[in-house]
Amino acid sequence: SGSAVLSIAVLGALGDLSTKLIFPALFNLYRQGFLQSSEVYIFGYGKDDVSDKEFRDHIYKYLIPDKAPSSEPPTADESKFLQLVKYIYGSNDEEKGFWLLDKVIAEHEVSKNRVGGSSRRLFYLALPPSVYPSACKMIRHYCMNKSNHGGWTRIVVEKPFGRDLDSSEKLSAQIGELFDESQIYRIDHFLGKELVQNLLVLRFANRFFLPLWNRDNIDNVQIVFREDFGIEGRGAYFDENGIIRDVIQNHLMQIFCLVAMEEPVSLNPEHVRDKKVKVLQAVLPIEDKDVVLGQYKGYTDELTVPDQSNTPTFASMILRIHNERWEGVPFILKAGKGLNSSKAEIRIQFKDVPSDIYKSSKVGRNEFVIRLQPSESIYMKLTVKQPGLEISTMQSELNLTFAERYQGVVIPDAYERLILDIIRGDQQHFVRTDELKAAWEIFTPLLHRIDNGKMKPILYEYGSRGPKEADELLEKAGYVQTHGYVWIPPSF
Ligand code: BG6
Repeated sequence: SGSAVLSIAVLGALGDLSTKLIFPALFNLYRQGFLQSSEVYIFGYGKDDVSDKEFRDHIYKYLIPDKAPSSEPPTADESKFLQLVKYIYGSNDEEKGFWLLDKVIAEHEVSKNRVGGSSRRLFYLALPPSVYPSACKMIRHYCMNKSNHGGWTRIVVEKPFGRDLDSSEKLSAQIGELFDESQIYRIDHFLGKELVQNLLVLRFANRFFLPLWNRDNIDNVQIVFREDFGIEGRGAYFDENGIIRDVIQNHLMQIFCLVAMEEPVSLNPEHVRDKKVKVLQAVLPIEDKDVVLGQYKGYTDELTVPDQSNTPTFASMILRIHNERWEGVPFILKAGKGLNSSKAEIRIQFKDVPSDIYKSSKVGRNEFVIRLQPSESIYMKLTVKQPGLEISTMQSELNLTFAERYQGVVIPDAYERLILDIIRGDQQHFVRTDELKAAWEIFTPLLHRIDNGKMKPILYEYGSRGPKEADELLEKAGYVQTHGYVWIPPSF
């Protein structure tokens, strides 16, 4: 009998997203046996007229991210993978190309399914969102799974999903007319990061945290994303969007949801997403006094960035949640480019110990830190007795550094994990339409004030900590800096 043929079509196949992230992820899945040569075929679809060979040569250059682009011949795995890839030339809004794409997918299905079989069709739109509606329409009309033996059609889209609430709702409606929610996979690649996927486990599988995770014990929460480089040739995209749309409204808000949401009824993806929506809906409007915007000096010198650009490359803001668990606890979201380091972490600071006989708050508060990157780790800062004859206290840490504890374990790339979820039909780590709407509702008024020039970014030195006003905001939120604590990196 027939098997379950899988066809993966990547639209915008010659673009950066496709060649630098999607194809390498597909290759890794293939290499680990998650994509079987007997079942899978991969189609690159693009608007440049190149041959299969030219396309394969192009993606080969990026297949192994750290491998220097070389003239070395492909390894056996690499060439077997490349043989599964075919290029189709067509535009994103013309029938001809999609008709052809459908035809080659169908031919492949027939050749693999000698006697009937189901057809699984995954369309990855590595395209600018402005063409999502037309490409979706074409897929809907020409390329759907038509097998009588079951299967599915799924589409994958990436941010930016609109610029604000209205444009995002419009885009959702356009796509929603063509596909059911169960067919739409909105990628937020932060949801594929190892420690982001660990968050619900940490929270809900540890007795340590369950009773403490609330306003009675937690003083403030920080979710921070920093990069020590600028916009690197992405000026046209970035200036249209700015750091809030690029990183905060999506990536940091996803983390925010996982830190702040209530326990889902089960791990059913809809149960998880229901709770995410709920906590987003409980966020109060953001006040201007709780926001610091920055722009690194030299940003407007970038080609394609207008001289007068008001676009923030840095933003720090306090979100407040109006519910029983979190009333009064500031959540500080901070993201910036052109800073002094590259790091993403979640920092949960606990309140001082009541009637503290050791005066331990002098050495610092308890903190629970989850570092997503670089070098994944989870650690708790706590007060201990300083080793020795005297009774004096100091801060130390309980530390789980992944590279030390899980030596030899390869942490999968976010795209690899998420593409596998799509193939398996698991939507837990994808953004549902109502979730997207709730996130836009929080940020749209603020974004409009920035777009109108009512709020302006403060200039900061490239390679610095960002505007000093952001540190003042942090202090105002109640964060207490630890002094005299030295982090000693594990030696292994
Ligand atoms: C992207 C943003 O979504 O995420 C980039 O557009 C940012 O501006 C990137 O650099 C960060 O992702 P990662 O996984 O490289 O930290």
